[in-house]
Amino acid sequence: MSSVNQYIQTNQNRFLSELFDLLRIPSVSADSKHKQDVRKAAEYVVQKLKDAGADRVELCETKGHPIVFGEKIIDKTKPTVLVYGHYDVQPADPLNLWDSPAFEPVVKDGKIYARGSCDDKGQFYMHIKAFEAMMKLNQLPCNVKFMIEGEEEVGSDNLGTFVKENKGKLQADVILISDTSLISLDTPSITVGLRGLSYMEVEVTGPNRDLHSGVYGGAVANPINTLSQMIASLHDDKGRVTIPGFYDKVAELTKDERTQLNKAPFDLAAYKSELDIQDITGEEDYTTLERTGIRPTLDVNGIWGGYTGEGAKTVLPSKASAKISMRLVPNQNSAEITELFTKHFQSIAPKSVKVKVTAHHGGEPAVTPTDSKAFKAASSAFEEVWGKSPIPTRDGGSIPIVSLFKKELGLDTVLMGFGLDSDAIHSPNEHYGIKNFLIGIETIVAFYKHYAK
Ligand code: BES
Ligand code: MN
Ligand code: MN
Repeated sequence: MSSVNQYIQTNQNRFLSELFDLLRIPSVSADSKHKQDVRKAAEYVVQKLKDAGADRVELCETKGHPIVFGEKIIDKTKPTVLVYGHYDVQPADPLNLWDSPAFEPVVKDGKIYARGSCDDKGQFYMHIKAFEAMMKLNQLPCNVKFMIEGEEEVGSDNLGTFVKENKGKLQADVILISDTSLISLDTPSITVGLRGLSYMEVEVTGPNRDLHSGVYGGAVANPINTLSQMIASLHDDKGRVTIPGFYDKVAELTKDERTQLNKAPFDLAAYKSELDIQDITGEEDYTTLERTGIRPTLDVNGIWGGYTGEGAKTVLPSKASAKISMRLVPNQNSAEITELFTKHFQSIAPKSVKVKVTAHHGGEPAVTPTDSKAFKAASSAFEEVWGKSPIPTRDGGSIPIVSLFKKELGLDTVLMGFGLDSDAIHSPNEHYGIKNFLIGIETIVAFYKHYAK
């Protein structure tokens, strides 16, 4: 057994108990009630980086939640890896759907159940433990920097400024991130594409007050009816988004590229049964892997208005609202799509209502190169540890910082994620396999070895 394996095995109980302590801190960035908890998580990461042997470890203040930085420079002539991750998590709601409390981690069937176990505490913590192992075994082969932020789940608003103002400090040769998924434990993969995002909120107002739905119903616009019609019109019967110009800049893949992408194993029956659905849906003429990987989409994330309490109340409400997100692909641009949506949504509103459209956060799509030294090192690391070549995949989620790193620092990213799509990130009962956690640490150490060669 290699010394790294030995080290991981000897220390795995401590690794896990440290991760559990981190998971117990409810660092929900979206909720101001948890501001102190978010800070506590940052301080915990500071301490763990110090313990692992990092220098210049700092809690960097921003206008929002702090960013944790740390580094180990062993030799200025050697390459530098910049590890990015996020210690903030999504809200745990709806709480009643959790089988065990979201911030009290438990192990069941070899999986850690807790909010953030996979996204992204469990994943970035592998990097701190891989670093610790390399330090303790005197095997760190190149320089490493850590930047772990606390606002990823709310759009990384202050990270852009931090990156722009700290280009010297962040100087590196490659970015390494574990915040995506693998195909499975039998089929390793490396993510080479992420979608971008435009997130909108719309409000439709009808009459100036709630009305009796019998006295006025049928004569005055019901904003919920109207909003539903407007939303329904955003897709045509081929599953395409109807906003004019929406597809103008979409990069079409060549036939070869599509064939390649569809070679990744995908079991439709298992997919449907895992989600308890009878059928799938989506844009005509595209496969499921294409629909989530290389095609843009539009989804309603939330919708509200009128009476939703117990029993029945007859009311024609004054207002209705919805939150709508669009996932973007190269070469769409978030600001442009936000503008197209706003114009279109205003234009389809009937005179009987007023419509307000506001934009939340956005982010650009990204594709990462597969011919770089760093990608090849990641590939070799998987080959060494897993005995299999990783398959390049395009993931449907978004990590806006990836395109920002390219733009501001000129750096490419390697997305070496160890989660699974079935880990229920952002959902109740989020979990992360202990196997994934441990093999992730081993694969990360192997990455450094191959990268520094
Ligand atoms: N780690 C996810 C993104 C992800 C998950 C990428 C799975 C690929 C596979 C990240 O924390 C996330 O949730 N991002 C948000 C966007 C952000 C701007 C709020 C997302 O994708 O909704
Ligand atoms: Mn994440
Ligand atoms: Mn997330």
